[in-house]
Amino acid sequence: MKHYSKKLDKLPPYIFSIINVLKKEAFEKKLDVIDLGMGNPDLPTPSIIIDRLVDTIKNHPGTHRYPQAKGMPKLRKAICSWYKKRFDVDLNPDNEAIVLIGSKEGIAHMCMTYLDLGDTALVSNPAYPAHLNNVILAGGKIFDMPLLPENKWIPDLTKIPEKVAKKAKFMILNYPNNPTAAVVEDLSFFKEVVRFAKKYDIIVCHDNAYSEVTFDDFVAPSFLQTPGAKDVGVEFYSLSKTYNMAGWRIGFCLGNSKIIAPLEKFKSFVDYGVPTFLQLAAVAALNSEDGLMKSTLDEYKKRRDKFCDGLNKLGFVVEKPKATMYLWAKIPEKFQKKGSLNFCEQLIRNTGIVCLPGSGFGDYGEGYVRFSLVTHFNRFHDALLRLKKFLRE
Ligand SMILES: Cc1ncc(COP(=O)(O)O)c(C=O)c1O
Repeated sequence: MKHYSKKLDKLPPYIFSIINVLKKEAFEKKLDVIDLGMGNPDLPTPSIIIDRLVDTIKNHPGTHRYPQAKGMPKLRKAICSWYKKRFDVDLNPDNEAIVLIGSKEGIAHMCMTYLDLGDTALVSNPAYPAHLNNVILAGGKIFDMPLLPENKWIPDLTKIPEKVAKKAKFMILNYPNNPTAAVVEDLSFFKEVVRFAKKYDIIVCHDNAYSEVTFDDFVAPSFLQTPGAKDVGVEFYSLSKTYNMAGWRIGFCLGNSKIIAPLEKFKSFVDYGVPTFLQLAAVAALNSEDGLMKSTLDEYKKRRDKFCDGLNKLGFVVEKPKATMYLWAKIPEKFQKKGSLNFCEQLIRNTGIVCLPGSGFGDYGEGYVRFSLVTHFNRFHDALLRLKKFLRE
């Protein structure tokens, strides 16, 4: 049989696949698996969104036809109104907003739309794997922007050599951040980004998937609130985490119309967009009253406090995050030498606890693991007991 495209060989091993094999082994050995791996919300989508979907799909057969690929006007208006209300950002629904089949799809197609063979993209390291892998799939070259604890996991733009900055085509950022759970407290870093992008003519893609998963009165900003942001960039937004709609597959790209138009063109050759009944359910989500997700956020906070305190007592180093449903934990000293993948392998095999190795998010993630707070509160007590026993042995 002929070989698949060489592009696939250039990809690093996908962490979720490696961990899935170990998870399968654990299930086969009849271990009681506590899955804190993938960032897959476990709490249900609010019923007003489900009711809207059910009613639409049952009573409006017109919605079973091909959808409007860039998103129906009603939905584009709803997302722009939501951005105005939430961030005080003005967006034109006609040309500054496009609907995506989840932001992962949008980010992948953004890379393909903008990168030619050998083009440079500035990407954080560690990063959400889709930020790294889609640059490679598009034939681009990654220039790592290390995220370091001493810089609060925010890249130091002054460390990017002038030569690299001049040829870079695009930069991908993400705050609140996956996997480090770091946040930007205000717009200062984004202002630096806008200055840098204007100086070197770089397109900025900000991934704002976790802006609504915040705690302790922290309010996450949008990149588009930054003066001049719309001149240089776009923001990816997702309903997956905001409304526990990860499986529904719906997100948006918002911002500079000249950046969005080619993405829309590219997508028109690849997909037909999000089904109309899902788009209408998304309108119901965006138009819902404030506080719809309060119980989800309260639950994440409870899990965060319990598990974070417990991990710190056991010798991990974990900061209590202000956002995301992740804990980014430095593994205890005695495991550092063998690395985070080895730690995760041992942990699954011996305890049934699944977490993700920091190295799977990029070299600069080594020494850390990411726990997702996506299982029942009581399970964190079990997980801590098992971890305690595991570390002792
Ligand atoms: C930073 C980041 N962006 C995007 C996504 C995917 O979002 P969506 O479900 O909209 O594709 C994730 C999922 O974990 C993520 O962590």
